[in-house]
Amino acid sequence: MKNEKQSRGKFSSSFGFIMAATGSAVGLGNLWKFPYLSGQNGGAVFVIVYIIFALAIGVPIMLAEMSIGRKTKLNPIGAYKSLNKRFTFIGVIGVICAFVILSYYSVIGGWVIKYIVTFFSGTHISDATGFFNNFIKSPVEPVIWHIIFMAITCFIVIGGVSKGIEKSSKIMLPALFILIIVVVIRSVTLSGGLEGIKYFIIPDFSKVNSFDELSKVLLSAMGQVFFSLSLGMGALITYGSYLKKDVNLQKSSYIITALDTLVAILAGFAIMPAVFAFGFEPSAGPGLLFVTLPKVFESMPLGIIFAIVFFILVFFAAVSSSVSLLEVVTSYCIDNLKWSRKFSSIFVSLIMTFIGVFAALSFGPLGNIKIFGITIFESLTFLSDKILMPIGGLFMCIFVGYVWGIDNASEEITSGGKIKFRWKKLFSISMKYIAPAIILIIFITSFLQ
Ligand code: PHE
Repeated sequence: MKNEKQSRGKFSSSFGFIMAATGSAVGLGNLWKFPYLSGQNGGAVFVIVYIIFALAIGVPIMLAEMSIGRKTKLNPIGAYKSLNKRFTFIGVIGVICAFVILSYYSVIGGWVIKYIVTFFSGTHISDATGFFNNFIKSPVEPVIWHIIFMAITCFIVIGGVSKGIEKSSKIMLPALFILIIVVVIRSVTLSGGLEGIKYFIIPDFSKVNSFDELSKVLLSAMGQVFFSLSLGMGALITYGSYLKKDVNLQKSSYIITALDTLVAILAGFAIMPAVFAFGFEPSAGPGLLFVTLPKVFESMPLGIIFAIVFFILVFFAAVSSSVSLLEVVTSYCIDNLKWSRKFSSIFVSLIMTFIGVFAALSFGPLGNIKIFGITIFESLTFLSDKILMPIGGLFMCIFVGYVWGIDNASEEITSGGKIKFRWKKLFSISMKYIAPAIILIIFITSFLQ
């Protein structure tokens, strides 16, 4: 189980890193959550708020996380510890958060595999609602698919940083872009699809005319920025720790944020026009991807082919994200506990799989176990998206803004003064004031309700 610090993995190129980090960012958050959240929160209004938050807090936090990672060359816990012992807890929050997210993320990942297999076998899902409900309520099937998804994730992580994570991302990400464009073209050319496009790009402010509604939109958009950009829990500290000094962190953070937002918007263009064209509800919620879309595919010529293409692209997105979640905890075991990569990944995967089983069963047999009135699955998502990630992000801003310091961060961001940092002033204002203030205000307001 020996492991030397020198043998830590490394991304072999800037492009490979950007693909891996974009792979972490682009995931179920973009394809599953973003469309239904925007459907529930006034369409374009949500999209606009999301973009503002992504620029004002997403980019600076991403940049800060990557610089902490590259500076320390350690996992989140080790990284904070080495910069200032008293702030080790921020890294601990991150590692716990990765655990929580992956345990439920892989349940949904499992659902995706189930759909691919179903469509591949040529099965026509004539009653999509019934099919979905029967499936998620079953005591066995969701658990099996969850285990399979976790095993695939573990397999890639065992392969290591450049040969596992980077290599798989370099294949899956470009494929994902091509596939999503295929689906978008099909969707926007459906007759009646125009309404869906309008819903997505023309803001309807009547959806946010009360304080409650507005704060709900703001909280959802903020939670989504953290979740979608993989922020506040150390995934990008971990990936940043495998970076060479000459990689331009600023450019990388713009590209990753832009690609992630692009995929979220493309997902909206893929889904909304189809939903409107066939007369379904855009605000269908989490079932949008698994219930509404299969109905849409069912009513479309050659629908089954588009269904397969679509769910494969969702799968690629999900795996490249889950890999980054597993890597956070694995890298902690490798760096701090000195375990081997193989042992660490398998060990961590087993524990995550175990917790995930409860999440998987909370749609059926364990459905009446409630924590504060919500199911196990919902509690896990609430804990990660609405609590751990924003708190992790908040403390990270405070840490970078006031403890480690903007100058130290900037030293790393500029690769020791070699690269110009034109936005330093804005970065500083965002880290010290804007991001912490937005996170805090939204956080407190949502708890007061
Ligand atoms: N960003 C991923 C998504 O949108 C989820 C994720 C969160 C991955 C945090 C890694 C870390 O699906």
